[in-house]
Amino acid sequence: MSLVRLAHFSDIHVVAAARWRLGDVFSKRLTTWANLRLLGRGAQFRETERVLAALRADLAERNFDHLIFSGDATAMGFEAEIARAAESLPLTLPGLAVPGNHDYCTPAATRSGAFERHFAPWQLGERLDAEVYPFAQRVGPLWLIAVNSATANRLPHDARGAVGKPQLDRLRRLLARLADIDGGPRILVTHYPIARPCGKPEGKMHALRDVRDLLDVARAGGVDLWLHGHRHDVYHHPKSATMPIASICAGSATQTAAWSYQELAIEGRHLVGSVRPFRGGLFVGGAEYEMEL
Ligand SMILES: [Fe+2]
Ligand SMILES: [Fe+2]
Repeated sequence: MSLVRLAHFSDIHVVAAARWRLGDVFSKRLTTWANLRLLGRGAQFRETERVLAALRADLAERNFDHLIFSGDATAMGFEAEIARAAESLPLTLPGLAVPGNHDYCTPAATRSGAFERHFAPWQLGERLDAEVYPFAQRVGPLWLIAVNSATANRLPHDARGAVGKPQLDRLRRLLARLADIDGGPRILVTHYPIARPCGKPEGKMHALRDVRDLLDVARAGGVDLWLHGHRHDVYHHPKSATMPIASICAGSATQTAAWSYQELAIEGRHLVGSVRPFRGGLFVGGAEYEMEL
C-alpha cells in the first residue's frame, strides 16, 4: 500500500486594494466591508501576508504529494484579492482549489470567472464536459473530487451555499465514470461542511442548502471523506451512525491565533491527520488524530 501525503488549508481571506463600482455599494460587498473595517473582522486577518509567506515556505519544504485549498481565498471577492491570494500560494505545485462564499461575494464576481482564471493550475482534472465543476484529480491510489458549493447571496446576513441540481447530476455521472483504483478512497472537497463541530447541522443562514442531496450523491458514488472549510475552527467527524461520511474541517490558515493547516497521511483506508499551527513565525507540528475511512 502506498502512502499519500496531502496538505489541506482553507479560508485565507486575503484583502487587497480594489476599485469599487456603484453596484458594489448595493451588494453584499458593503456589509462584508463593514464587517471587515468597522466590526473588527479585519483585525483577525491583519497578519495574513506574513502567515501566507510562512505557509508557502512550509508547503514547499514538506514535499506533499498534493495540496488542497477549500475556498474563501478573499474577503470581498474582488479580482485584485483573488489575484493576490493566488500569487501568495505555490500554484506551481500540484493542487486542487474550490471557491468559497466570499470569493463569490456578488453575482458579478461569480459570473466573472476570476477565481477559476487565477486558480486554473489547481483546477486541472477529469470532467464530463465544458463545465468547470465538478472535476476529479487522481493522486496515487485515491481520487480527489472538487465540488463548488459557493453561491452569490443578496441579503447581508446570508452566508448560505448550494451545489445545485445540474452540478449534482454531473457529480453523479462523474463518480460513476471514475475508475476504481485498487479500492483507494474517494475524497470530496468543497467549501461547506456537513455539520458543525458539535455534529449538529449548520445554522440556517450559514449552511449548504442542498447538503442532504450532496450527501446522497456522494454516498451513492462511494465517497469516503469530505474535506471542507467555511468554519474557522479545526475539527473532524469520523463516519458514524449519525455521520454518513467522515469529514475534516481545515479551519482558517491565517486567522490570528486560530491559524493552522492540516497534513493528511493516507495509507489504504487509514488516515493520520496532523494539525500544523502557526507559532513563532513558522508552521510547526501539532496535535494528531487517526481515522478509518
Ligand atoms: Fe471563511
Ligand atoms: Fe465561507
